[in-house]
Amino acid sequence: MNKNFDAYKIVGNLAKFYDSMMTNSGFLGQSVLKIFWGLDAAAYQKFLAQAFAGIPENFSGRLLEVPVGTGVLSLPVWQKLDGAEIFCVDYSEKMLDAAKKRATQMNLCGVKFLQGDVANLPFADNFFDCVLSINGFHVFSDKEAAWKETYRVLRSGGIFCGCMYVKGENRRTDTFVEKFCEPQGFFSPPYETFQTLKKNLGNRYSRADVTHVESFAGFVCTK
Ligand SMILES: C[S@@+](CC[C@H](N)C(=O)[O-])C[C@H]1O[C@@H](n2cnc3c(N)ncnc32)[C@H](O)[C@@H]1O
Repeated sequence: MNKNFDAYKIVGNLAKFYDSMMTNSGFLGQSVLKIFWGLDAAAYQKFLAQAFAGIPENFSGRLLEVPVGTGVLSLPVWQKLDGAEIFCVDYSEKMLDAAKKRATQMNLCGVKFLQGDVANLPFADNFFDCVLSINGFHVFSDKEAAWKETYRVLRSGGIFCGCMYVKGENRRTDTFVEKFCEPQGFFSPPYETFQTLKKNLGNRYSRADVTHVESFAGFVCTK
């Protein structure tokens, strides 16, 4: 069993704390974001905008989100996309349970939730118009398989977007990742730097725009 699969089973049980950090709310969540990720309120808003920059307004095609986690960031966005067909995948049943509960509370009945591994996605080639991955690639253990699978299921001309941790932008964040996130199984090395990510995506996609806010890189790519 992969270490990060166990780690996120535990996070699923602590979904409230996880959500407060991801939404920059509550004293503890805000403090962790500021101290370890270098994100104050203004930078957090930029991080959020960057994460969703690739989703066209009024998007109405078929979209894959992997990993959805508890859905705390994405479900409010999906609520506004009436015409889209949305599939959310995560390996952790606990994280998915939290996402499904949130969707029910939000009356979001159209979104489909599937337990699955990004390294072996249960979809046909070219199935999606858009693939979104928020905070996934620094977690996935088989990154090459994840790059290949997210590419395979995307149609030509489709958009691959999202965000991930990159090493080398903030020394305190890098230490926190190395000494805490990684040993706990929340993150899996090796990590991209801003430069290697630009190169990696540029080699795979016909167009790749990469930005960063502190240690989070945002990417919007066209296949
Ligand atoms: C940091 S969370 C990000 C969740 C969400 N996108 C967010 O930003 O709140 C990472 C997620 O990746 C999931 N995960 C880890 N390995 C995975 C894999 N191989 N396939 C699918 N999901 C995976 C974990 O279960 C966890 O929910």
